[in-house]
Amino acid sequence: MNILVIGSGGREHALVSKLKESQQVTKIYCAPGNPGIAEMAQCVSVDINDNSALLEFAQKNEIGLTVVGPEVPLANGIVDIFTENGLKIFGPTQSAARIEGSKAFAKYLMEKYNIPTAAFAVFTDAESAKQYIKKQGAPVVVKADGLAAGKGVVVAMTLDEALEAVDMIMCDNVFGQAGSQVVIEEFLVGEEASILTFTDGKTIVPMVAAQDHKRVYDHDQGPNTGGMGAYAPAPVVTASISEQVMREILQPTVDAMVNEGSPYCGCLYLGLIITADGPKVIEFNARFGDPETQVVLPLLDSDLVTIMVSCINGTLTDTEIKWKDAAAVCVVMAAGGYPGTYKKGDVMTGLEEAKQQGASVFHAGTALSNDNQFVTNGGRVLGVTAIASDLKQAVDKAYQAVGKIQFEGVHYRKDIAHRAMKK
Ligand code: AMP
Ligand code: GLY
Repeated sequence: MNILVIGSGGREHALVSKLKESQQVTKIYCAPGNPGIAEMAQCVSVDINDNSALLEFAQKNEIGLTVVGPEVPLANGIVDIFTENGLKIFGPTQSAARIEGSKAFAKYLMEKYNIPTAAFAVFTDAESAKQYIKKQGAPVVVKADGLAAGKGVVVAMTLDEALEAVDMIMCDNVFGQAGSQVVIEEFLVGEEASILTFTDGKTIVPMVAAQDHKRVYDHDQGPNTGGMGAYAPAPVVTASISEQVMREILQPTVDAMVNEGSPYCGCLYLGLIITADGPKVIEFNARFGDPETQVVLPLLDSDLVTIMVSCINGTLTDTEIKWKDAAAVCVVMAAGGYPGTYKKGDVMTGLEEAKQQGASVFHAGTALSNDNQFVTNGGRVLGVTAIASDLKQAVDKAYQAVGKIQFEGVHYRKDIAHRAMKK
């Protein structure tokens, strides 16, 4: 079977690596991919926001399965168009992808079906939002309703910060249309975890739980980023929390989507805070998370093509999904200045040496220079993932590999998995 993966980051590199292990795969294409992916798949320059171009490519190249990485093509209805044309594609429809594309939709859904989440209110005008914030007091969380490339959330520790966030989102229109509504949320306290799942719309199967590291510096200091590293399994999600999440959150959510006429098929990403009151939802994503995918998929011990096809065909309940008895750690190597402005085009060395340590080097923001060297081309440049029999060994192995790689200005967190190591 020929496969098309849509996207160009570390998540897609991890997806391609796992799909490539399947005996069912003839050839993998990736649109647009990146130089790391190009070592294991054919990268093609098709515009991922052009549904017709993607459809034409898939038809011409007899693609048997398309896997969508990022959220924007899902929100553009790529799954609807492929499905209407008889092509198999892994991901939710445009209507189901609203669970990520509109935070207000997700919150109303959770309210209606009693799914535990932070208390909230939704506003379409700045003045009422500010009145409400003044009544609630700080800390409080301000979220742009729509897709904002992971930047639409402000966790405001003071009233001023919260009011400024409303101005930024609703008056300065920093996120455009995505900020025409805001969600104001209760500030939740507790440890975070990410649970990615496979679902065919009826059955939902969680993957091993992971934990992301959003802040740029060690000890969770500095501004938020797209994620500076991750590990799995995350011990904060105990067997009993996992069971509670299934019963109170995951199954009710897929059932609710059916009831709302938008059955959800694909990978549903659950972002959680484990509060003193139990696990509560902070967000749903309509796709694999990044960097979580870079630690979760290497632990999968079953055929990913089979699982994805069973999600599309509605037969997930008959599909066995096994996990390795191991742990995985991903350290993100970022460009100097990230998450602020950063330089591009710096030559990277040591990638082969890092792989010789037994690590996977997933490319997130890289390019090839004219003289064929890997150069930096993004804020998050590489995700270095190691897997080992336990977390401690996986941490050591990942950092040994990281130590081999160099480029100007590189920075990374030295404490990935610190919460689990303390346990
Ligand atoms: P998101 O962009 O939705 O992933 O949110 C970014 C980060 O904001 C999350 O990883 C949390 O650390 C934090 N966050 C979001 N919602 C809340 C909340 N209700 N209470 C506390 N922190 C939150
Ligand atoms: N790691 C969080 C996300 O993918 O949105």
